[in-house]
Amino acid sequence: MANYIVKNNGPLQGEVTVSGAKNSVLPLMAATLLCGEPCIIDGVPDLRDVHIMKDILRSLGATVEEIGDDTIKIHAKEIASNEPPRDMVDKMRASFLVMGPLISRTGYGKLHMPGGCSIGERPIDLHLKGFESLEANIYHRAEEIEVVVEKDKLTGKVIYLDFPSVGATENIMMAAVLADGVTNIINAAEEPEIVDLANFLNKMGARIKGAGTESIKIEGVSELHGCRHKVIPDRIEAGTYMMAAAITRGKVIVKNLVPDHMRPIVAKLQECGVKVKLVDMGYEVDAQQAPIVATDIKTLPYPGFPTDIQSPFMALLATARGSSEVVETVFENRFMHVAELNKMGAAITTEDRKANIPGGKTLKGAEVYATDLRGGATMVLAGLVATGETVIKDIYHIERGYEKFIEKLKGLGAEIKRVEA
Ligand code: EPZ
Repeated sequence: MANYIVKNNGPLQGEVTVSGAKNSVLPLMAATLLCGEPCIIDGVPDLRDVHIMKDILRSLGATVEEIGDDTIKIHAKEIASNEPPRDMVDKMRASFLVMGPLISRTGYGKLHMPGGCSIGERPIDLHLKGFESLEANIYHRAEEIEVVVEKDKLTGKVIYLDFPSVGATENIMMAAVLADGVTNIINAAEEPEIVDLANFLNKMGARIKGAGTESIKIEGVSELHGCRHKVIPDRIEAGTYMMAAAITRGKVIVKNLVPDHMRPIVAKLQECGVKVKLVDMGYEVDAQQAPIVATDIKTLPYPGFPTDIQSPFMALLATARGSSEVVETVFENRFMHVAELNKMGAAITTEDRKANIPGGKTLKGAEVYATDLRGGATMVLAGLVATGETVIKDIYHIERGYEKFIEKLKGLGAEIKRVEA
């Protein structure tokens, strides 16, 4: 067990480079199960969740090789098992993304109910409803889910999602690429990670149109082949460093991002009075002169304000002039960081999915917990501007999703260290 110890070392300055997107690389890795040829993925971040996915793929019979600094080659020549071990699946919700490829390629998959961050009930009913529409049979046995395709192949259908779930859209897309006939996903998620997955699948020979809109059309093909693909930059990691620059009243260039993916975050930072300018390779975030003022946010599916940046933004609002309101509409319990921010003097109150942030606080160092991945990053940001020392526990959550977090922050002048407890 290790902790992070963070001290206020003034405004952050300099440049930071964003890694490949965690939430893109995980579905891409799962998608390699769809064909018997090698697939090469570039821009793979070195993260705990990526290692878990490598283990899962190996447990199913794939070989996974690191063939460069951030390049991996995955070859699922044969599917040796259709049942990843429970201890691996339990560690990460995204493990359920292997179900779509497994049933698509082999007609059968069996998984334990997936684990992951504790940010509320995270059912998989929409994934299962999608598989069922494609004419798979679903069997629940205690905590286990078995999906069986009785015919030779899944059958293309029109699938309406009650909510534009990212994971369900990805799983259904992967299930449908080898199905018989055409599948239409209506009210599909529009996140950039969906587009990245569709591009990857199309490079493998799939026929997907409309990814990035609310209606995706997938024409089934008889087989897929290997390909090479570079993961898109991590918009949530980029957003976290933009918040770090703003909360410390610093000036940072965040490099290697897709400006279009950052629109809601940029707009809200600008509303707070932060100067955000597009420069050659990314965004320059300048909060040196600006008085940071309150604003309200409401999280929504893309292109709305991302739920994953809600907690870091809340830390910024705690230090802003005036009171702000944050409404979380995507997850039912994503305010666990509030209690931790309050230990540092933020005085935030919540009612159901609404938080009121009085603002204008000088945060004080305290012993706090990383309650989930983004909540953990939030506590680091709060520690960067707090008086005294902030000790952050349960940092394994943070290490699931931020590559070289300490090194990158130190590169901007932060005082932060990882200490074995
Ligand atoms: C993805 O999770 C991301 N994870 C999450 O990233 C992100 O917060 C989330 O999308 C929303 O943008 C990965 O991509 C690996 P959802 P996912 O299915 O796919 C409900 C991070 O910090 N729902 O869009 O699990 C669900 O309970 C994280 O990197 C159902 O009701 O998100 C939630 O309230 C954590 N039934 C909402 O939909 C279902 O079958 C959105 O979930 C599926 C989802």
